[in-house]
Amino acid sequence: MKGVILHGGRGTRLRPLTHTGPKQLIPIANKPMSQYALEDLREAGIEDIAIILGSVAPEKVVEYYGDGSEFDVKVTYIRQGEPRGIAQAIGLAREFVRDEPFVVYLGDNLLKDGIRELVEDFRGSNAEAQIALSHVKNPEAFGVAELDSGGKVIRLVEKPKVPQSDLALVGVYMFRRSIFDAIDALKPSWRDELEITEAVQRLIDMGLTVRSHVVSGWWKDTGIPEDILEANQLVLSDLSHLNRGKLADDVKVTGKIAVGEGTVIRTKCTLRGPLIIGRNCDIGPSTYVGPYTSVGDNVVIKGGEIENSIVLNDTIIECEKRIVDSLVGKGSRVFSNETNIPRACKLIIGENTIVSL
Ligand code: TTP
Repeated sequence: MKGVILHGGRGTRLRPLTHTGPKQLIPIANKPMSQYALEDLREAGIEDIAIILGSVAPEKVVEYYGDGSEFDVKVTYIRQGEPRGIAQAIGLAREFVRDEPFVVYLGDNLLKDGIRELVEDFRGSNAEAQIALSHVKNPEAFGVAELDSGGKVIRLVEKPKVPQSDLALVGVYMFRRSIFDAIDALKPSWRDELEITEAVQRLIDMGLTVRSHVVSGWWKDTGIPEDILEANQLVLSDLSHLNRGKLADDVKVTGKIAVGEGTVIRTKCTLRGPLIIGRNCDIGPSTYVGPYTSVGDNVVIKGGEIENSIVLNDTIIECEKRIVDSLVGKGSRVFSNETNIPRACKLIIGENTIVSL
């Protein structure tokens, strides 16, 4: 079996972070989102993987994954460029997958339990396709599946006004080459995209078997900043305690923390896990880093408090404020000048930035 990771799209809802890189490279607990997909594929025994590149800094994806050898897989790159729909992106993998069955993993989806069970289920079946489903509270916001009593998929509806089930489509699909004929027959939707729900519906209409598998652990599809923070919370909830840094004797630690090599936590700091701090960071003195926070590499945080946030590499935060529920982009500087008169906020911020002072 082969694997296909979708790394395209615009990620407009995550700007400004996605002005400089694809959303799938945004780190969750200090690891790019799409790396979770890659590792899930590898754990399911799939080591021949194509990454479909979009138009937002695709070179950063190639730079990160290279030929895949660092991740014990073989990576092939396929360029989609401008997003013309998930089905169009999958259609580009035809030459890559040839006659093999394959798994498509949307690079911005995270699954607690990986995809091993899903892949084994599909391998053991003669179904033409398999979709993964998850029970959700607000099915009207998702692609929703209607099943018969045996779990066979009857119908897929994109964001239904009156959902017939609470089973949302998870971004992991299993196909055989029949999907390419279904994609060939598609016409662009109202949003000018080739829709994967329509392609799968076509398989059903052709009388082919589409299986479903309801996932048991959590599933997160990351569209907006709140989703990224929630995914970060979910991943950090399973964090293993690992300290490779240097903590001053009086640092108060509760819960599970992971601190990278070369990182210094100075006097009078409080670390309340679960939290992760990368390599070569300088934290403190008298700084509070609270639960569900991921701090990247080479970050300086001096004073103040931070909680439930993601701070990317090479950032400096020097303020006595309390920062919560925040995403701080790579190489940023956050500082306060409250001692200066007149009191003022000095801001140099990019497009579509959100500032709450
Ligand atoms: P979406 O979340 O639907 O789109 P997006 O990532 O462009 O985000 P936004 O709506 O904020 O602009 O995409 C779902 C996944 O599929 C995501 O991992 C990107 C990927 N994708 C492609 O690779 N190619 C495409 O043409 C589209 C539409 C999505």
